[in-house]
Amino acid sequence: MDTVVSGIRSTGQLHLGNYFGALRNFIKMQHDARCFFFIADYHSLTTHPDPRILHDNVRNVLAEYLAAGLDPSVATIYVQSDVPQVAELSMLLSMHAPVGELERTASFKDKIRKHADNVNAGLLTYPVLMAADILQHKADKVPVGKDQEQHLEMTRVYARRFNSFYGVEYFSEPAAYNFGTELVKVPGLDGSGKMGKSEGNGLYLSDSDADIRKKVMRAVSDSGPTAPGEPMSEPVANLFTLLKLVSAPSTVEHFAASYNACEIRYGDLKKQLAEDIVAVVAPIRERIEAVKADEAFLRRVTADGAEKARESSAKTLAQVREIMGIRRF
Ligand code: ADP
Ligand code: TRP
Repeated sequence: MDTVVSGIRSTGQLHLGNYFGALRNFIKMQHDARCFFFIADYHSLTTHPDPRILHDNVRNVLAEYLAAGLDPSVATIYVQSDVPQVAELSMLLSMHAPVGELERTASFKDKIRKHADNVNAGLLTYPVLMAADILQHKADKVPVGKDQEQHLEMTRVYARRFNSFYGVEYFSEPAAYNFGTELVKVPGLDGSGKMGKSEGNGLYLSDSDADIRKKVMRAVSDSGPTAPGEPMSEPVANLFTLLKLVSAPSTVEHFAASYNACEIRYGDLKKQLAEDIVAVVAPIRERIEAVKADEAFLRRVTADGAEKARESSAKTLAQVREIMGIRRF
């Protein structure tokens, strides 16, 4: 049976990028594999969240995981910091992570550009901690969005390097996974780039129907095709990408045909898109508040998850220490 590991940072509400890039795939896999899904609160500390709201952010992500359909009776759901073994494994792996390689990581370069005032060592070693998240459970598959591809490549490099340095066949090489197809990149509604929290262009699982309709109707488009078969501009291609994620194939075909015939009315497309997004989001949103209010359930899920994850992690850590030569007297 495959082992599957994935996580989402605890920076607040989940958006459709998180859902279609990652969460929906976790949910699809939970019945067929040994699954560990966690909330990456250690990782979120790299951007210095207010300590007074960090716990509420963790609670939000946890409630949204559960409301969206993650099932704690089949998957191990836990909070990263409840398994401090991962920090030791990360420290051990960091001994084989050259600084130059970390400095060349796309996500690190991006963060330096955007937040030159906060370039901390945790940000630099972010991919090492992520590799430890994955390798501690000996994962085979890691369901993530397209933006995480390079981090997965680094995880494989660390696994390979560890094996070859110590002359063992210990870690196998985990793969970023989307059911045999390309990893997903969910676009924003602002015409370019991905949907993201820091981009401020998100549609959230907690958005009301009215919020969704308003945001979609305001999405950037263009002045319309002028000749049949004209290639789509990026903002319009993005609307079609979203449509393909939420709507029936016949709906996508209908609007693609009217685009190609230069007859499309973007207002109609947006109305349909908004309704199809509402159909995905509303049932999840309606469960979020009830789950969030059930303290006893949240406590039980995280306590059970932490126990199972610690057991798996501690086993790996003991073997890694042994391989690296750390022994008890
Ligand atoms: P954010 O980018 O909002 O800070 P995270 O970095 O914690 O969220 O991402 C959690 C998961 O969601 C990852 O698997 C990531 O690949 C996925 N994800 C985030 N944004 C997108 C997006 N726009 N398209 C596809 N997947 C995404
Ligand atoms: N780095 C991921 C992100 O920003 C979150 C994450 C942390 C993760 N550890 C992980 C994802 C392990 C998959 C597996 O999206």
